[in-house]
Amino acid sequence: MEKYEKVKEILKKNNQEQLLVCYDKLDEKGKEKLLDQILNVDFDLINKLYEQTKKGVEMGDDVIEPVDYVDKSKLSKEEYEKLEKIGDQAIKDGKLAVLTLAGGQGTRLGYNGPKGTFDIGLDTHESLFELICKPIKEANKKYGITIPWYIMTSHENNAQTVKFFEDHDYFGYPKNDVIFFIQGELPMIDTEGKILVNEQGFLKLAADGHGGVFESMLKSGALEDMNKRKIEWVFIGPVDNPLVNMVDPIFVAVAETRKCMAAGKSVVKARPEERVGVFCKRNGKPSVVEYTEISEEMSNKRDENGELVFGESHINCNLFNIKRVNEIAANKLPYHEAFKKANYINSKGELVVADKPNAYKFETFIFDAFQSMESMAIMRVKREDEFAPVKNAEGVDSPETARELYINFHKNSAK
Ligand code: UTP
Repeated sequence: MEKYEKVKEILKKNNQEQLLVCYDKLDEKGKEKLLDQILNVDFDLINKLYEQTKKGVEMGDDVIEPVDYVDKSKLSKEEYEKLEKIGDQAIKDGKLAVLTLAGGQGTRLGYNGPKGTFDIGLDTHESLFELICKPIKEANKKYGITIPWYIMTSHENNAQTVKFFEDHDYFGYPKNDVIFFIQGELPMIDTEGKILVNEQGFLKLAADGHGGVFESMLKSGALEDMNKRKIEWVFIGPVDNPLVNMVDPIFVAVAETRKCMAAGKSVVKARPEERVGVFCKRNGKPSVVEYTEISEEMSNKRDENGELVFGESHINCNLFNIKRVNEIAANKLPYHEAFKKANYINSKGELVVADKPNAYKFETFIFDAFQSMESMAIMRVKREDEFAPVKNAEGVDSPETARELYINFHKNSAK
């Protein structure tokens, strides 16, 4: 009872009393869970985030400049071989781990299940998880080692994801080297700043964005596990790109030889108006600038070779030195809000079914971590070799386009 009184007081102080609307209907275990959930909420943060929603996006006076990059396909044979030797050695020495970001909700795709379990429609019906696992298995064979594969899930999809791996015998990957960890989450709030109650009577929580990977690596023990395994570099990539090339000796070598603590792969923007974030320098530090943040003139600007000056798209394929992960995890990344549809139980105990966006969800982005780097090595790769995003149910970046890109890549590399 003491706990209940304490919670009531906290809620009153923060004007969030609706959170106990279903309390009386819950069993003892449920009551305890709800009280613990509430005690775990950082109300100051929630209040701050609510204030942020009222301000809108601020462009600020940031100085945005283009970045230097290495074009993988334009390296001389000599340079390539030199880098390959360095990268091969690092991988053979067990310095590389790979990490798949699989905590997203995949709302645009509209698939009811973890995105990694999605079948893009190949004749083999392999899931995205299986497709991205294949090249790691091949690398293991090539290097005579097993690269640890970390998978970040969410509270929402963890059980289903692990079951999928169990049911598919981990796609033949050594089970002890597949390490799942769950990302953090934050309460969703309505337009009045009230935290929502979900259909089960608990807090409505949502995954805290792919930038949550650093904090979750630290909190879950995944980072400690990497340290134990003497990992130096972790490649962090998406689950929704069947062409993701996670074990790339050239990429590792580019980061090592340039003495950078992080590296990012880019593909050249398809057209100036493409709605993607591009690598840039922001106030002198590595960053990504969103298409909404730069002027049309900047988007269209070309250099003397005819290349777009801001043309290096960020494809969420990045490499981090694990010494730096600790620091990034300790310094909170900024939160960005997304306005989403969310069903909830209102303060009268009634279910509200949303037919349009009605609530805020807060996320951190992985590329906000770049700003804490002195420098970052950017390596341009060929779009057709490494980029087949599965974002939308139809049209651009859909299963259909990804399937075609995947098939073409394998047809060409078999030649
Ligand atoms: P996206 O930003 O495209 O999000 O994720 P999404 O959840 O897959 O799709 P939408 O926006 O809801 O339609 C890019 C990568 O980051 C992961 C995704 O799983 C994907 O691999 N991600 C995203 C997380 O791991 N956690 C998150 O909270 C968000």
